[in-house]
Amino acid sequence: MAFQLSQNILSVHFPPISEVKSWLEGRNFSADKPLVDLCQAIPDYPSPPSLLNHIKEKLSDPATCKYSPDEGLPEVREELCHWYHRHYNDGPAAEEICITIGASQAFWLAMTVLCRAGDEVILQLPAYFDHPMGLQAMGVRPVYAPCDMNNNGRPNTAQIAALITPKTRAILLVTPSNPTGAVIPAEQLEELYQLARKHNIPLVLDETYNAFIDAPPHHLFEKENWGETLVHIASFGKTFAMTGFRAGALVASQEFIHHALKAQDAMIVCPPRITQHAIAFGCKHLDSWVLDNAHMMQRRHNLFRDAFICDDNPFTLAASGSFFAWVRHPWHQLTGREAARRMVDEANLICLPGEVFGPKLESYLRLAFGNIREDEISSAVNRFKQFNDTLQA
Ligand SMILES: Cc1ncc(COP(=O)(O)O)c(C=O)c1O
Repeated sequence: MAFQLSQNILSVHFPPISEVKSWLEGRNFSADKPLVDLCQAIPDYPSPPSLLNHIKEKLSDPATCKYSPDEGLPEVREELCHWYHRHYNDGPAAEEICITIGASQAFWLAMTVLCRAGDEVILQLPAYFDHPMGLQAMGVRPVYAPCDMNNNGRPNTAQIAALITPKTRAILLVTPSNPTGAVIPAEQLEELYQLARKHNIPLVLDETYNAFIDAPPHHLFEKENWGETLVHIASFGKTFAMTGFRAGALVASQEFIHHALKAQDAMIVCPPRITQHAIAFGCKHLDSWVLDNAHMMQRRHNLFRDAFICDDNPFTLAASGSFFAWVRHPWHQLTGREAARRMVDEANLICLPGEVFGPKLESYLRLAFGNIREDEISSAVNRFKQFNDTLQA
């Protein structure tokens, strides 16, 4: 290339899902052993017809073609407020919400408001790969809290406290976790909130998978001054099975949102109106549809776990929960990439290598079992067990 690229972007690895999907090029899968896709977390079911019909109606309204306010339409943000109050017992006011292009953009907004190049953000290992990728692109250093699989990969508050330095700009956690599925209990979130508050840094919570647990995830929104410490990232792509609509939100204090809107305007001006209508419809009408799907995901999880944990499976389940399983592969001499490649080549199964979730995680794979139906789980698990014979031989 005749010009220089940013050293920051050069230090970022290529998107893992694109990398892994490229391994499928030129492959054809027979009907008796079709591809099992446990790679990217996408609900296998569509958004309900009622939501799609609503969107069709909105498409015939010429206003849909126009920009909206940067933060989103007031009536959509109002609907979101009601949704938070129902699901968290309390929640933001409309001025404390900025609608975004997925949780992904909410993360970029939050980090742009908080960090400059050279700053640090604490992440828990295993960490959702887009977070370190985004931080490194901004020149911000991800500081990793060690992975403790004896604790299901959940954070240890004392270890996180030990990582705080004058350069720390946030503690960024994902609950339920991608990749382990582990949920951080409400009491521990309270502890982490108090830790962040003590150090005058924000606790940034990415709760993309909150729809797949059926109790309020925490009580932090019930605090009078939650916005002084909590920054919350939401995704409605998984909740309403509309990942393609790119629907998310940043929820934070009014002052934080005020500054975020400068970046929002410069990045995207405003979120697409059509997406906003989809969010409002989902929040207003789909509570019971979402709950039914959460129960279905729990059944998938139980079936997956029961089938996976058995003597003739050479893979070990290290942790699992909403949507994901985090497993140890049996090939000590192989990296996660080599193991995942072997799964594609020999088992027609695609999943993610552990090391894309952070350093020293080569012995793991992430499986998004939430992508497959209950009746597909047993044959998917057999693709792992098929290696038992070769390993025994
Ligand atoms: C933890 C986490 N955060 C954010 C995202 C991105 O969500 P969205 O599609 O809403 O941008 C994902 C997607 O898989 C995720 O797992």
